[in-house]
Amino acid sequence: SIFIDTLAKAQAQEELNKDDLKVLLSADGEEASLLFKHADAVREKYLGKEVHLRGIIELTNYCKQNCHYCGLRRGNEQLSRYRLTYREILTTAEQAVALGYKTLVLQGGEDSYFSARDIYELVKEIKKMDVAVTLSLGEHDFDTYKLWREAGSDRYLIKHETADPHLYEHLRPGKRLKQRLQCQSWLKELGYELGSGCMVGLPGQTLDTLAEDLLLLKKMDVDMAGIGPFIPHPQTPLASAQQGTLEMTLKMVALARIIMPLVHLPATTALGTIHPEGREKALQAGANVVMPNVSPSEYRALYQIYPNKICIRDEPVHCRSCITGKIKALGRVVSTTRGHSPKGGITR
Ligand code: 5AD
Ligand code: SF4
Ligand code: FES
Repeated sequence: SIFIDTLAKAQAQEELNKDDLKVLLSADGEEASLLFKHADAVREKYLGKEVHLRGIIELTNYCKQNCHYCGLRRGNEQLSRYRLTYREILTTAEQAVALGYKTLVLQGGEDSYFSARDIYELVKEIKKMDVAVTLSLGEHDFDTYKLWREAGSDRYLIKHETADPHLYEHLRPGKRLKQRLQCQSWLKELGYELGSGCMVGLPGQTLDTLAEDLLLLKKMDVDMAGIGPFIPHPQTPLASAQQGTLEMTLKMVALARIIMPLVHLPATTALGTIHPEGREKALQAGANVVMPNVSPSEYRALYQIYPNKICIRDEPVHCRSCITGKIKALGRVVSTTRGHSPKGGITR
């Protein structure tokens, strides 16, 4: 069949074109299982059994953007907003380091309350704790990214969300895909390891678009790709849209692994939210990273990008042992390193 022929092409490590990707994205049932199995083998061959944990600290749920898909959008007036204080952030970071996290991700909505200097000082302080720091704070200018790099930030996570420029511009009012990709190029130029990614199952997204998402990740030469299902949030314009599926998201993760053997791929929290074994399934379809929340419990429920997010009632220490248990149960091991990009080439 055309599926088997295309899978054989993937197994022979031949370059997959857009049509090939669409064939593989159409796999169902047993075909999809074969695809996951191959992706799992590629992960094992190139990266072994190590799973990297990244602790996420959600600094602020204020956001000046109005993305149609996201519960933090400024138009959501029903959400109580919070910002962690400088002290709270550092205490959270210390606790996460004590739990053994070797990478901390500082994530937040686009909140102008925090100045570029504030983030600079924060990163400088956290870097003293001997961890890798990833920033996930949205779009900024070159000089801001440069300042944060000088503070010691190692990585930056800024997903392209969707490679379809029309869909992108519709879902992110006032924003342009081109600008997003410009930010990504600047970050690479500044020596950050770049994390990108997209949502799967957005209304208006097609198989063609999903294939483009994969090709764009490859073209941007990303170090990490976060691929998660779209989950409709009741207080957004997409409230009544369909949710992305487990199966399609897993196929996207698997293909990302197949076309980019050395990229870091998280088993996303969103996947764990739509299916109780979503993260485990992703770890067996190419993923090699998990990003547990380490934010203070009293604020977790408020970081409601999408509804029913897992772990909102769990303390960091609980998630840490929960996830370690899941990783071990799969015959995998928790990495004891910072888990820098195996693609290398970056001087730090
Ligand atoms: N469902 C799934 N993921 C979402 N994100 C935002 N809204 C949703 C949603 N409704 C993701 C985007 C963004 C990050 C903040 O969360 O990919 O990059
Ligand atoms: Fe803000 Fe990001 Fe949510 Fe868009 S996706 S509203 S930029 S937090
Ligand atoms: Fe939070 Fe399992 S990772 S409870």
